[in-house]
Amino acid sequence: MSFTEDELPALEGRVIVITGANSGIGLEAAAMLASAGAHVVMACRSPARGEAALERVRAARDGARAELMRLDLADLGSVRAFADALLSRHPRVDVLINNAGVMALPHGRTADGFERQIGTNHLGHFALTVRVLREGQAPPARVVTVASHAHRWGRIRFDDLHGERRYHPWLAYGQSKLANLLFMNELARRAPEVTSVACHPGYASTNLQGAASREAGSGLGARFWDWANGAFAQSARAGALPTVHAAVRDDLASGDYLGPRGPFELVGAPRKVRATRAAQDRETAARLWALSEELTGERLRE
Ligand SMILES: NC(=O)c1ccc[n+]([C@@H]2O[C@H](COP(=O)([O-])OP(=O)(O)OC[C@H]3O[C@@H](n4cnc5c(N)ncnc54)[C@H](OP(=O)(O)O)[C@@H]3O)[C@@H](O)[C@H]2O)c1
Repeated sequence: MSFTEDELPALEGRVIVITGANSGIGLEAAAMLASAGAHVVMACRSPARGEAALERVRAARDGARAELMRLDLADLGSVRAFADALLSRHPRVDVLINNAGVMALPHGRTADGFERQIGTNHLGHFALTVRVLREGQAPPARVVTVASHAHRWGRIRFDDLHGERRYHPWLAYGQSKLANLLFMNELARRAPEVTSVACHPGYASTNLQGAASREAGSGLGARFWDWANGAFAQSARAGALPTVHAAVRDDLASGDYLGPRGPFELVGAPRKVRATRAAQDRETAARLWALSEELTGERLRE
């Protein structure tokens, strides 16, 4: 089964939650899913950026159903509050899309003291997913994890997960994206009632690339990314298609991973792709799961 953004199956009656829905891939995916009739919950950290994005999604088609809820994945208190508020409004969530992410930022910490990339990209989403699964009336039918090609150079540094002894922004990003895929595979084993899949957008022009330069106030870095995005990246809309496919295609099974079909999986229409062997290592996945439970205090079963 394949489709373009204009041919999505009808999604009326489905509740789809997407984190980081105010920008880039999350925003484009939210607009496409709402256009196809889903009720989209846009989970965003900034109310102002979220409101502007909500307006855009609601304008995607007459009667588009979308709502904004506040979620800061870099703060476990916010994750817990969001999950509880979500489930009181929507006791049954059909699809949870773990999309939000940060890339290659200088060393920094979340509210709970985790390194920002592993904290936001993996631990925040781990806590959110586990809580929604445990507390929901029924578990979401599907959980989509947005990973990256960067998982290829990632390694889980169990002896220094938060980069206290040694930190490199790109290696820390790779670690967090490998963690995303290990999580997706371990979730498939621990919650067989859920379809746990992953996807990556290839290289898509979004706010992700320039964020570290903007934070550091580097005009040169920001200009470099503007140029590279213009020259090599696909649009954010095209980059959102693997996410949308992962959320709604009915020919997917747990463990499936979608990415662009073009050279080096950088651009192109979605197809099933392969993750590295490291991403499928059961021992590492189980160890990371246990550590994530310990760090976040969230467990699938009490
Ligand atoms: N673009 C690419 O080429 C590419 C390639 C591979 C993988 N990816 C993955 O695709 C996903 C989406 O990225 P994107 O390219 O669309 O980037 P983006 O335009 O920067 O969007 C990232 C989203 O995540 C949100 N976010 C960041 N930290 C958050 C936090 N603590 N709590 C809640 N939300 C938070 C951002 O909110 P703010 O607007 O408030 O910052 C934004 O909405 C990420 O997981 C990324 O790793 C992207």
